[in-house]
Amino acid sequence: MWFGKLLFAAYLMASVLVTITSAQNSPQDYVDAHNAVRAEVGVGPVTWNNTVAAYAQKYANSRVESCELEHSGGPYGENIAEGYGNLNGVDAVKMWASEKPFYSHDTNSCVGDECLHYTQVVWRKSVHLGCGRASPQDYLDAHNTARAAVGVGPLTWDTTVQAYAQNYANQRAGDCNLVHSGGPYGENLAWRFPDLSGTDAVKMWVDEKAYYDYDSNSCAADQQCGHYTQVVWADSARLGCAKVKCSTGGTFIGCNYDPPGNVGGQKPY
Ligand SMILES: *[C@@H]1O[C@H](CO)[C@@H](O)[C@H](O)[C@H]1NC(C)=O
Repeated sequence: MWFGKLLFAAYLMASVLVTITSAQNSPQDYVDAHNAVRAEVGVGPVTWNNTVAAYAQKYANSRVESCELEHSGGPYGENIAEGYGNLNGVDAVKMWASEKPFYSHDTNSCVGDECLHYTQVVWRKSVHLGCGRASPQDYLDAHNTARAAVGVGPLTWDTTVQAYAQNYANQRAGDCNLVHSGGPYGENLAWRFPDLSGTDAVKMWVDEKAYYDYDSNSCAADQQCGHYTQVVWADSARLGCAKVKCSTGGTFIGCNYDPPGNVGGQKPY
């Protein structure tokens, strides 16, 4: 078979990413981005496949510490990309599709530059698509913006804490229930049907700020503030978050904090 397994990596530098667009990381976003490129050359659409997506997400999670573009070596064709800051799913697909000018259909070869990400995108016999994305920066940015707003220093990403969060998220994959892990870290949990981005999970927690009164260190009646106070807890220094797709169709996200916040009787900052 031509080219054997189709496994390619692409890099994108920060300067290319001038806009932070709305998420563009949903299954439909990935599917639409692929199918637009396929339709241009008369190739039928791919459909989202949860098995393939779970594989992709699991592999993305395992790369989150280094973002190294190493292939997973699994049973599927694979395009991978990395970008500094926020690389969204649609921009990654656009980057692969941008190799189109270097593909010569007549000779079935690449001319002048790489084109194998493109040929995988438009590969006629590939019909099931699944994509995964992992970006600690999303979680960090959302936390550190909320912290900076009240004069609290930033959290840093910690792979030990992340591994803990991922292990616990995996345990919740059967039900998406918001049950705490009872471990050594502070912990915020969120879920939503069907999808939830890391940024939106943190936003849900930070939105509790409206109910928190700093002077009295208390929360408005019938409201929750504890997620917010953990986000801005000054003594918490390290963050690790993880996400899992639940078999119920929802998405579960957990973030853990080291040292834990919400220590009784103390203000967060
Ligand atoms: C998902 O993709 C896998 C691998 O190609 C395939 O075996 C499975 O039948 C697909 N599932 C659906 C629902 O299409």
